[in-house]
Amino acid sequence: MAPARRTDERPAPALQRLIYASAATPETAADMAGVLDDILQAGRACNAALGVTGALLVCDGWFLQLLEGPKESVRQVYGAVSSDRRHTDLRLIENRPAAVRQFGDWSLCCGVFRPDDEAFAGEPAMRDGFRPETLTPASSLGLLSILRDLQHGAGAGGLDSARPAA
Ligand SMILES: Cc1cc2nc3c(=O)[nH]c(=O)nc-3n(C[C@H](O)[C@H](O)[C@H](O)COP(=O)(O)O)c2cc1C
Repeated sequence: MAPARRTDERPAPALQRLIYASAATPETAADMAGVLDDILQAGRACNAALGVTGALLVCDGWFLQLLEGPKESVRQVYGAVSSDRRHTDLRLIENRPAAVRQFGDWSLCCGVFRPDDEAFAGEPAMRDGFRPETLTPASSLGLLSILRDLQHGAGAGGLDSARPAA
């Protein structure tokens, strides 16, 4: 017979995954390293406190970010992010329930790339540079997975940013 369910057990909140792309403002692009330092410091603490994990890919003046966690937490973080004036032209690519976390090891994994970076060689989504209008949920996840795999390959110490761009 199945053991009786303990009354203090609560199902884990449903997992939500949100992906968007946005453009760095000219001011942000001019000081990308400084802005990223700020985003990562504040973002990692906030995401960890809210149970949110995710990744931020930076390429050619564009951001591509995935946030995953309890729906309300993701809504809260995206609410703050979407009103941040350091970027503009936000395009929501995906916002839906997900079965599993893709970036469970990171409160905010980050990598800076150039469009011709060899990491993206053969990636259809990067064939003509970073073009957010062509991104789909699947191709976005593919690009972010490259970042994740590079971070995993970075070893136990991990890199804060995968090969920061020149
Ligand atoms: C591209 C980009 C990504 C960001 N990602 C996050 C994030 O994952 N988590 C987070 O808390 N803040 C993130 N931020 C920073 C927030 O927009 C905001 O500055 C921060 O949450 C502090 O908000 P507050 O001043 O309203 O407290 C990001 C900002 C930018 C421009």
